Amino acid sequence: MHDNRPMKTFDAIEVRRLALAKGYLALLTAQPGRPLALFAPRRVGKTFFLDHDLAPQAKNAEMLPVYADLWLHKSAPLEAINHALEEALDDLRVPASAAGKLAKTPVKKIGLLGASVDLGDEPQRRDLPHDAGLRLDALVTRLAREHGAPVLLMLDEVQTLGDASDGIGLVGALRAVLHKRRKELSAVFTGSSQEGLARLMNTAGAPMYQFAQIIDFPVLGDDFMRLLAEHFQSVHPGKQLDLDELREGFRKIGYKPALMRDVVKAMSAEGITEISRGLDNYMTSGPQLAIWNALLNSVEAFDQGVLTAIANGQPPLSQATLKALQAIPGATPTISKIRSSIEKLKRNGILTRTATGTTIEDPLLAEFLLRR
Ligand SMILES: Nc1ncnc2c1ncn2[C@@H]1O[C@H](COP(=O)(O)OP(=O)(O)OP(=O)(O)O)[C@@H](O)[C@H]1O
Ligand SMILES: [Mg+2]
Repeated sequence: MHDNRPMKTFDAIEVRRLALAKGYLALLTAQPGRPLALFAPRRVGKTFFLDHDLAPQAKNAEMLPVYADLWLHKSAPLEAINHALEEALDDLRVPASAAGKLAKTPVKKIGLLGASVDLGDEPQRRDLPHDAGLRLDALVTRLAREHGAPVLLMLDEVQTLGDASDGIGLVGALRAVLHKRRKELSAVFTGSSQEGLARLMNTAGAPMYQFAQIIDFPVLGDDFMRLLAEHFQSVHPGKQLDLDELREGFRKIGYKPALMRDVVKAMSAEGITEISRGLDNYMTSGPQLAIWNALLNSVEAFDQGVLTAIANGQPPLSQATLKALQAIPGATPTISKIRSSIEKLKRNGILTRTATGTTIEDPLLAEFLLRR
């Protein structure tokens, strides 16, 4: 998929996943009205995939991709979706250049000197309904009709719906439109945290589960490692990165491509090839330590203690944890205080729920806590 010209920089290294995108589009086609919900940890490349792979592939299939980031409009997610649809509608109606706009509307009269250009009437349309749910319905219909093919709605950070005050109503409205307009509309959701997903399910109840197909979004694989190794070798002829070591390092940092690139970039600057040493250097570098310290200082000493216990693999609600927390000056630890601390740390994304229990979202932060 990539050509053989050497990449100019580590930052330019990108893995395209067109086959994955095609697979998702085929799934959507096979089950009209049923959205896909792609879930994966933070920073593994969900948004990048929507932007670089899924949207172009949808366009190839004559669909109209529309992207909305619900995180940016946490309090009004439906409005955020509608806004994205309205923008898409504008884009369809008003071609990029002003000349295009003029050409679309029959010109009724042009002044002799060209000074007074009187445009024809804008096409008349009934106003869109005020209610956000109804407007969503009307917008989708108009957009699909004007585009002449189905719309692919890509909703990023969909777990935000679980935080909205009327989450149940929102999911209900979305679900109704997706079902009713299944010929004109399909949807892909992405979400970051298992915790958020769980909250969304609790808020919206079982229907959301039955209605969206939940998919574990795959992390990048060997393609990415190979590109890193190839570029390293082109910069340092004669030096090689070991693929197994790269894989292991990538696992260790939680499969975050941008982070991996940074680590290898730093290794390249120092001319070292041993990945574990590269990771070590990265973790003990000044800027990285400053970031973690700032993150820890953003929560209370008690919360830091809870984090340390979890990083040590201690069951957070155990006697051992209670005892350890007693060492914090001024703290009177109780199980319920630990519980609410965990809730808080989950909410701000430092902790996350996994199949095996509550863990620290960033594995490198966990290691930093262990070393402290
Ligand atoms: N396929 C890819 N090839 C190369 N780099 C990638 C790829 N996907 C992601 N990245 C890099 O990883 C970074 C994080 O990706 P992205 O923002 O898509 O993650 P995310 O899963 O949406 O994260 P978040 O949960 O924080 O929204 C990107 O800025 C990009 O630099
Ligand atoms: Mg994202």
